[in-house]
Amino acid sequence: MNYNIALIHGDGIGPEIVTEAKKVLDKVCDVYGHSFTYKNVLLGGASIDVHGIPLTQEAVDTAKSCDAVLMGSIGGDAKTSPWYKLEPSKRPEAGLLAIRKALNLFANLRPAYLYDELKEACPLKEDRIGDGFDMIIVRELTGGLYFGERKTEEVDGVMTAVDTLSYNENEIRRIAVKAFEIAGKRKKKVTSVDKANVLDSSRLWRKVVEEVAKDYPDITLEHMLVDNCAMQLVHNPGQFDVILTENMFGDILSDEASMVTGSIGMLSSASLNETSFGLYEPSHGSAPDIAGKGIANPIATILSAAMMLRFSLNLDKEADAVEAAVQEVLKEGYRTGDIMSEGCKKVGTVEMGDLIADKIK
Ligand code: IPM
Ligand code: MG
Repeated sequence: MNYNIALIHGDGIGPEIVTEAKKVLDKVCDVYGHSFTYKNVLLGGASIDVHGIPLTQEAVDTAKSCDAVLMGSIGGDAKTSPWYKLEPSKRPEAGLLAIRKALNLFANLRPAYLYDELKEACPLKEDRIGDGFDMIIVRELTGGLYFGERKTEEVDGVMTAVDTLSYNENEIRRIAVKAFEIAGKRKKKVTSVDKANVLDSSRLWRKVVEEVAKDYPDITLEHMLVDNCAMQLVHNPGQFDVILTENMFGDILSDEASMVTGSIGMLSSASLNETSFGLYEPSHGSAPDIAGKGIANPIATILSAAMMLRFSLNLDKEADAVEAAVQEVLKEGYRTGDIMSEGCKKVGTVEMGDLIADKIK
């Protein structure tokens, strides 16, 4: 089959890691008889450099015309990059938020999985790790504080800034449904995370999630306050299966969850709308400090490409093959610098991509 893929190379290490993911996808095409047509889309700093803004309508239209979007990472060093001299709405991150909104990508799935081979990279003590952990954060991505009204103004001579956290029941329901559907294919547990002891938006969140839960009698639902969840993630990460939460909490908790796996360079993510369309990107940032050095770990992007095969293109076999290839390369002891441990063989970005592509069968 032929599929159209929008490719966003992005900034920092983005172009390097996307190149390796594409290499792996090309191998998938060879082995399984597919062909992918790639359309390049500019986002973030790369778009600012060409168009003066981080996302153009043309970029959105190109992305929409494709079956899925595969992305590296965007953004630069906020201290040194000229992009951060622009007003906030013209900076790279604003482009990312705008494309999420324009494509209605309300469901952000961020798996955090402890690879057996990478147990040594986990910063937690052995007794906390237990039998390991395998969770997925389902983060609402197009509402809440990120998209509420905001302003900074002088009130009675005092500078005052306002951000608005708003959710309606429909926004909560559709992300809750995603979480329950996903839990049904996993360990059948949803932990809904909120701050219902303080926030109205969280109280509505809890109420709607409970209503949705009634349609999924075989799934266990628990509620957890976000501060407690932050603690539980390092205390006993094995207790989680699906964590369902709003945009800002999900942003924070997903970084924490990725850190306990010890390897943010390994974690993929998918952002989906109501259809099978999605945008796939690593959970990590653009790491401008190591850009162009050939040492970035391309695995998170390669695993994001695997998620794309599975969720948007319905190519489960091919997705399995990519994930198995990653696992095999790790088993053979190859590591990029970020996940390096004693006795392993250190490789760079390109070599890691070659090794994984070679293993696609
Ligand atoms: C993420 C990132 C973005 C977010 C930034 C770059 C705007 O941190 O994808 O988690 O906060 O959503
Ligand atoms: Mg984040």
